[in-house]
Amino acid sequence: MNAPAQGKETSAGIAAYAADFPILARPVNGRRLVYLDNGATTQKPQAVIDAEARFYSESNANIHRGVHWLSQHSTDLYDQGRERVRGFLNAAQVEEIVFTRGTTEAINLVAASWGRPNLKAGDEILLSGMEHHANIVPWQMVAEQTGAIIKVVPVTDNGELDMEAFSRLLNQRTRFVGVCHVSNALGTINPVADIIRQAHEVGAVVLVDGAQAVAHQAVDVQALGCDFYVFSGHKLYGPTGIGALYGRKALLDAMPPWQGGGDMIHTVSFERSTFAETPQKFEAGTPNIAGVVALDAAIVYVQSIGLERIAAHEDRLLQYANEALAQIPGLRFIGQARERAGIVSFVMDDIHPHDLGTILDMEGVAIRAGHHCAMPLMTRFGLPGTARASFALYNSTDDVDALVAGLQKARRLFGMEQDA
Ligand code: ALA
Repeated sequence: MNAPAQGKETSAGIAAYAADFPILARPVNGRRLVYLDNGATTQKPQAVIDAEARFYSESNANIHRGVHWLSQHSTDLYDQGRERVRGFLNAAQVEEIVFTRGTTEAINLVAASWGRPNLKAGDEILLSGMEHHANIVPWQMVAEQTGAIIKVVPVTDNGELDMEAFSRLLNQRTRFVGVCHVSNALGTINPVADIIRQAHEVGAVVLVDGAQAVAHQAVDVQALGCDFYVFSGHKLYGPTGIGALYGRKALLDAMPPWQGGGDMIHTVSFERSTFAETPQKFEAGTPNIAGVVALDAAIVYVQSIGLERIAAHEDRLLQYANEALAQIPGLRFIGQARERAGIVSFVMDDIHPHDLGTILDMEGVAIRAGHHCAMPLMTRFGLPGTARASFALYNSTDDVDALVAGLQKARRLFGMEQDA
């Protein structure tokens, strides 16, 4: 893979790594692309694009199936990817990493394979009020099937979890706690270590949705002590269609398989089948081998820069954006938690977030507008949606300036310039 060029940080900060991302050189609507929709998906560095293309041109074969060299080679690359994810999350054992299509599939796997067999009528599932639909709907489906009850941890006005309410809601009936590490809609970094510790005191199992965290801070699942941790490759500069579930080995071993098919069995007869060990028993069918190889490259890329440096860079951008956006009359931040990762969510007087998104798009600025797949959180704030700018390592203060200029243009178009 291409190593990031040396010495970039001294000239223009980490954002100079933008040169590694070919798509950022393409104009959009005749303007320089200012990509601030990284919470939805990140762009891919050339190293990741090359890794996926190289897999198909040099290494493609199915894994675990052939005695031939190419199949063994492909299997080795797949296994190397699993070891890379293990190290990335600091899991104790490589068997604790299950490849999935992404965060959503990983949560559905846990809901179906841990939730359904373990929950019964009257058991409580405790979810934070800022969860993405992916960490709500699978639990509603399981609650319907088992009679378990969903309880919700409220969110404060500044977009933090109400930790006193969390402690009060925890009780002996709480069997499961689901919480996002970082809110996709507000950027709030939740105190997950504290949540896990308290949940374990009542014997609950904890799943942390790390989709918005892994590209912005180092994660150590052993230090956190969580039972499950899930993330998607595509928010980590990797490809779509690949992600991972970390699960404590004892839990995964005790869970039945989720999907049935090839590669997850030990023996099959028409009378009965026996299953492979963890993690193979959760990976039915031909997996996304190229995706694993490219995810491996994405992790190598991120680690070559350093998550601490990336986090510090994004934090500076967040501060800069906060100060610049605060100057715009009629702009109201939604969620101002003390601990936040690179996301800023806001609304503007009398301009619908979708109109903001469309006007910004005409300027080449890509943001997300809407409910961010977190409708209960939007309801909490009495809003149909917000405008959200989300940062990645390649963003710069120029990008924030372009966002601010676009918002000022929106105000002019809506006849609000007299307030300026
Ligand atoms: N969950 C993604 C987002 O927040 C799609 O935009």
